[in-house]
Amino acid sequence: MTLKNNEQLLRDHVDMRMVGTGLEEIVSDRNTIIQLDPDHPGFRDPEYRARRNRIAQIAMGYRPGQPIPPAPYTDDEHRVWQTIWKALKPAHEEYACAEYRNCLHRLAFDPDRIPQLSEVSKKVEAVSGFRLEPVAGLVQPRVFLESLANGIFLCTQYIRHYSTPLYTPEPDVVHEIIGHAVTLASKRLAELNRLFGEAVKRTKSPQALERLARVYWFTIEFGVLREDGKVKAYGTGLLSSAGELEEMHQAELRPLDLQITSSHNYDPTHYQAVLFCADSFEDMYQRLRDFLLSWQ
Ligand SMILES: [Fe+2]
Repeated sequence: MTLKNNEQLLRDHVDMRMVGTGLEEIVSDRNTIIQLDPDHPGFRDPEYRARRNRIAQIAMGYRPGQPIPPAPYTDDEHRVWQTIWKALKPAHEEYACAEYRNCLHRLAFDPDRIPQLSEVSKKVEAVSGFRLEPVAGLVQPRVFLESLANGIFLCTQYIRHYSTPLYTPEPDVVHEIIGHAVTLASKRLAELNRLFGEAVKRTKSPQALERLARVYWFTIEFGVLREDGKVKAYGTGLLSSAGELEEMHQAELRPLDLQITSSHNYDPTHYQAVLFCADSFEDMYQRLRDFLLSWQ
């Protein structure tokens, strides 16, 4: 891998919802849009920006319970999806935990075409009751996390710019679907997401919310566990990025102790230096479930 590619892969995982949480800020509306930064790969592509705006309008006009209108993806963008699948398929076979692989099989994505949120949402809802709803862009962590309590996962619908298929400076439909939607087709992982939402609703202080957000980061986003004597990923930030999966064995592994995890700082702009590893899927599920249920 060249340095350039490595740098590109490096930020593929970044989920800005959990970054720089601005916890003291007033919670903003779920459809708050953040303008494209001049460094964004799509900044100088007027067609891409127009398409992003159309997709943002879908979310802004969306009312819960309605079918989600289809996003207008181009052939170049479907090729992004194809490129990502080529990189991810072998990485998933080697590094994804069995629960994730089963869910992936269940959702049966077309490797040639970006699926529409409406079709993925239907499949996920049939398994766990979770629904996907479109958002125009980034939302405040509290808004994002609290919606989980209602079995709703707020999804961006746009896709990264086609010039950088393995890089995105923000969560996009690839991360949402290949990461989160797949795990929400697991009854147990969906339950944990719901419990996170309920715990956030009971959390008043910014400091406590930050502790919960760290636990979310090191489990739902970057969790690993042992399976058949190997370290496997169940975290969505790892599972939606071939670069992250390749690099996860460079991380220092620490036992999953959620009190310690809740006070461990992370740097979202680099591969994770430390990952918290459960002894098994069952061990992760029980620990996280107990932790969230007793969270005050
Ligand atoms: Fe994420």
